[in-house]
Amino acid sequence: MCGIIGYVGFRNARTVSIDCLKRLEYRGYDSAGIGIFNEKIQVFKEVGYISNLEKHIPHIKGCIALAQTRWATHGKVTKINAHPHVSNNEKITIVHNGIIENFKELKQELISKGYEFKSETDSEVFAHLIQDCYKDNIKQAVYDAVQQVKGYYALVVLCADEPDVLIGARKDSPLVIGVGDNENFLASDIPAFLKYTNRVIYLNDGEICRLTSKSIEIFGNDNQPLKREQELISWDVSGAEKTGFPHFMLKEIYEQTDTVHQVIRGRISEIQREVMFPESIESIIKNGSNDIHIVACGTSYYAGLAGKYLIEQLTGKPVFVHLASEYRYYGNYNKNSLIIGVTQSGETLDTIAALKKAKHHGCKTLVVTNVIGSSATRIADGFILTQSGPEIGVAATKTFTAQVLVLLLIALKLGVFNKTIGADSLYQLIQSLKKLPRVVQHVLDQSDHIKKVAEQLVNAHSVFFIGRGINFPLSLEGALKLKEISYIHAEGFAAGELKHGPFALLTEDTPVVAIIGSDETYEKMVSNIGEVKARGPKVIAIAEENDETIKQFVDEVIPYPSNKGGLSCIPIIVIMQLLAYHVADLKECSIDKPRNLAKSVTVE
Ligand code: M6R
Repeated sequence: MCGIIGYVGFRNARTVSIDCLKRLEYRGYDSAGIGIFNEKIQVFKEVGYISNLEKHIPHIKGCIALAQTRWATHGKVTKINAHPHVSNNEKITIVHNGIIENFKELKQELISKGYEFKSETDSEVFAHLIQDCYKDNIKQAVYDAVQQVKGYYALVVLCADEPDVLIGARKDSPLVIGVGDNENFLASDIPAFLKYTNRVIYLNDGEICRLTSKSIEIFGNDNQPLKREQELISWDVSGAEKTGFPHFMLKEIYEQTDTVHQVIRGRISEIQREVMFPESIESIIKNGSNDIHIVACGTSYYAGLAGKYLIEQLTGKPVFVHLASEYRYYGNYNKNSLIIGVTQSGETLDTIAALKKAKHHGCKTLVVTNVIGSSATRIADGFILTQSGPEIGVAATKTFTAQVLVLLLIALKLGVFNKTIGADSLYQLIQSLKKLPRVVQHVLDQSDHIKKVAEQLVNAHSVFFIGRGINFPLSLEGALKLKEISYIHAEGFAAGELKHGPFALLTEDTPVVAIIGSDETYEKMVSNIGEVKARGPKVIAIAEENDETIKQFVDEVIPYPSNKGGLSCIPIIVIMQLLAYHVADLKECSIDKPRNLAKSVTVE
């Protein structure tokens, strides 16, 4: 939540900072602001999107700046509450992502010393606290200030008395250094500066960095200098551009032929009939546990639920899936369990907290994430990357597909270890995996038909998604996609549950999207559809392409390609993403930046 930027170099800091900030807009977009040094620190803030801020900043010169795009936590969405915040002597300017838990006490103390607060935010405390600590060294002042703060922060600080220096500090909120030639960057996320550099240095919790255009110094928890190597990021800059698509979300949906390929590349071998991970990961999977607990939030949680069906089916091992926000407080941590954190960003606060707690209790931890170097990868005993490239649209699409596939690969590996999967079944599944990019392409080619079906949902007040087996978590995800980007109320249900309550809400105006597996759930789904139809609503079936029978029971069919290996969950996911996308597009919604949401949820 919130994206922050720092730039020091030779370019126009206004232009670079706004450019980088726009690439972080998915982290929050209530308001935005920038501070640029030109003789003094000049601060500009606006409510709304970054484009609105950009219109209001004069073309001033200056080679050092800091900026933020906000997702409000403390204090309403107003210009005053937008960042940067400035100290009373106007020398210290800060942007912050995180929450200061003891801000009331600190604020009171600062007020008693004569400091005046302008905003309702917790973040403003940092500006005055750093002023209070400042003698003649801004790095030291930031160090002294953060020692007094409880909570979490990624912080960038600019001091008018040291105008060629940027200070960065982090604890439990992401902050990465981008290393350039005669310029350096600080950002919440790598795509922000990827256009300028692909060399990064990760900061760890409790560390502080001091950047000039020509130098980078890092200091540990104890304020002592540290050596840290830079790393090269292989992501392509086009991953963070729309490349001709009207929305990032649509681009990311279309990238899924490649996503599938990237997830399986180097991890399956047809010849050796094997699923392969690095030795350290295989050892975690093999030796880790009596049982498996998956912890995640939102879409990643639904991927975890899908993973439960896959792992239990293929291995017989019990899998428990938990919402990280609950599990971190109420979970039962047993040191013989394997805890798998599933998180696209690797920064979701609740998932990180659950992983930390699991480690504390001696459990083995594994993370499935898209972001190398993210907090999750640093905490866990091992991590598997979803290798999907940057995902900018707030609604997760390609990373959900990749998460489900990684969980399937884990299931296969475990099945081989436990001898619950025979060589022939494994071979057949590997074959099906190899065909998946073509299967996904086939679904993408149906986009126009899916758009026609979407037209029938545009005016709905509420939509039900139903499925059985693995199609139950898929229906939860389908409903989440629709609600988050089109603002239509949608719920996913296990089809057998409708008669236990949800039917009370079903009217003829409630379209039902029924996901029909061509497996042992088929007959039951047909009965459930009959029960639905008896109450009058329109039913849209997502069904296998050869299924002629289903047409007589439903109003519309969106077919998915037959896939003998049972991997139909992937084309079904893509259909539901396109369905949600087209509904939202027809409603002219803000698809990439839905209201009140942010991509990376780094607050509780
Ligand atoms: O980065 P994470 O996967 O941990 O994020 C979890 C959720 O915040 C995320 O999946 C959210 O639900 C998305 N907006 C769904 O599209």
